[in-house]
Amino acid sequence: MGVSVSNFRLANAVSRLGQLGVVSGTALDVVMVRRLEDGDIGGHIRRAFDHFPFKKMAERIWNKYFVDGGKKETESYRTLPAHTKDGPRESRELQIISNFVEIFLAREGHSNPVGINYLEKIQTPHLASAYGAMLAGVGYVLMGAGIPMRMPGALDRLAVHETATYPLYVAGASADDDTTMVFDPREYMECELPPLDRPFFFPIIASNTLAVTMARKANGRVDGFVIEGPTAGGHNAPPRGKLQVNEIGEPIYGERDVVDLSKMRELGLPFWLAGSYGAPEKLAEALSEGAAGIQVGTAFAYSNESGMADQYKAAVIAMAKESKARVYTDRLVSPSGFPFKVAQVPGTISDPAVQKSRPRICDLGYLREAYKTPEGQIDFRCPSEPVSIYISKGGKEEDTVGRACVCNALMATAGHPQIRAGKHLEAAVVTSGDEVANLGRFIPEGADSYSAEHVINVLLAGVQIPAGASESSAS
Ligand SMILES: Cc1cc2nc3c(=O)[nH]c(=O)nc-3n(C[C@H](O)[C@H](O)[C@H](O)COP(=O)(O)O)c2cc1C
Repeated sequence: MGVSVSNFRLANAVSRLGQLGVVSGTALDVVMVRRLEDGDIGGHIRRAFDHFPFKKMAERIWNKYFVDGGKKETESYRTLPAHTKDGPRESRELQIISNFVEIFLAREGHSNPVGINYLEKIQTPHLASAYGAMLAGVGYVLMGAGIPMRMPGALDRLAVHETATYPLYVAGASADDDTTMVFDPREYMECELPPLDRPFFFPIIASNTLAVTMARKANGRVDGFVIEGPTAGGHNAPPRGKLQVNEIGEPIYGERDVVDLSKMRELGLPFWLAGSYGAPEKLAEALSEGAAGIQVGTAFAYSNESGMADQYKAAVIAMAKESKARVYTDRLVSPSGFPFKVAQVPGTISDPAVQKSRPRICDLGYLREAYKTPEGQIDFRCPSEPVSIYISKGGKEEDTVGRACVCNALMATAGHPQIRAGKHLEAAVVTSGDEVANLGRFIPEGADSYSAEHVINVLLAGVQIPAGASESSAS
């Protein structure tokens, strides 16, 4: 979930208890580097590095980024090299090792499987990231926010350390432009390794058409689906058909956005239901509809183990206890163009004044779009970068309206806000599903916090789980 909300600690706790813990694979390179710059509190990254098979790479990265005792509070985090179509090499190395670290730590101390979630739309890191996660034995790859037709085949190739490719969407490119990203693990391997386990692959879908297309036309094995409805936290699929909005500007979803589960059953692949299924009666309903389980995000996001910074957990839990926690489905805020659920939390960018006070700076760049320049090169642009720069790159001014830097805001939510000029701290954005309104069910009487184990106990209370079915945490 988000950036580092479902971090290794949460996924470890969930998998240890026999459910499927899924770490967020988004921006793990910058997450790991910022943890190193914070002094690797707890020594977790060092432990994982010691198990990483490519020692020279680990040493290079450690020496460059680890700050003993942590950086000064007023000091900025380092800016990482920007991702490009096939590099640069340092980016690829950071993606490999950071994905390894997160999965290694999520798997530490138990023998149950762990998954990782990627957003299809953030394409440039896919191949190196998946390879790093596979080096650490990831069991499941879940991918949403796009149509990951070419991912299954890439996983097959990476499992045998062979060159894998993935098509980069480049605006304005024509069919004869070379837009294929190429990643050869052998350029990074420092020793021979046996074949890796090929993880199960689950696309996250919001329509029957996409499920059928993935099942029939993907370039490799699809093992199941997560079906995510529009009340789920994070990014949502836009409504189908002509956009209609309610009186406060939220997209309105209708019948066409409901996935027909009878058709899903006909496909014959297991599926999990996500989006307001985090309740015992909803779990029972999902199972009775033939689902293999549910994916839950919102309840886990506020648990003790999640990577959300404590101040935001505390603020939302306090509001939930008074039945005042709410989200707004913002169709503009994310540069991705997807609706994004924003929990209304004072001091975060849900406050328009906080959002407007931030000068436009794009220095993380995960949600940038690739485009073809007039010279025929591939460059990147983000509708949240300074408007004049975006327009100079062929972007449309109207696409910049209402956008925020979700990348920097999510890093702040994960407890690693960038600080600029020694004093300007990036504000956070808290995302949640509509279920945040019912978060109170997970907060024990008289308490201000709860564990991931408690969430699982609440969800499983009184539910008969048929053999072979499972429940999953979210990412
Ligand atoms: C804080 C948060 C961040 C999320 N980020 C992602 C994400 O990065 N990718 C994704 O596929 N789903 C994301 N989700 C959605 C969850 O994976 C899950 O499908 C959803 O939360 C389930 O519905 P629920 O919110 O009603 O529990 C996020 C959810 C939350 C609460």
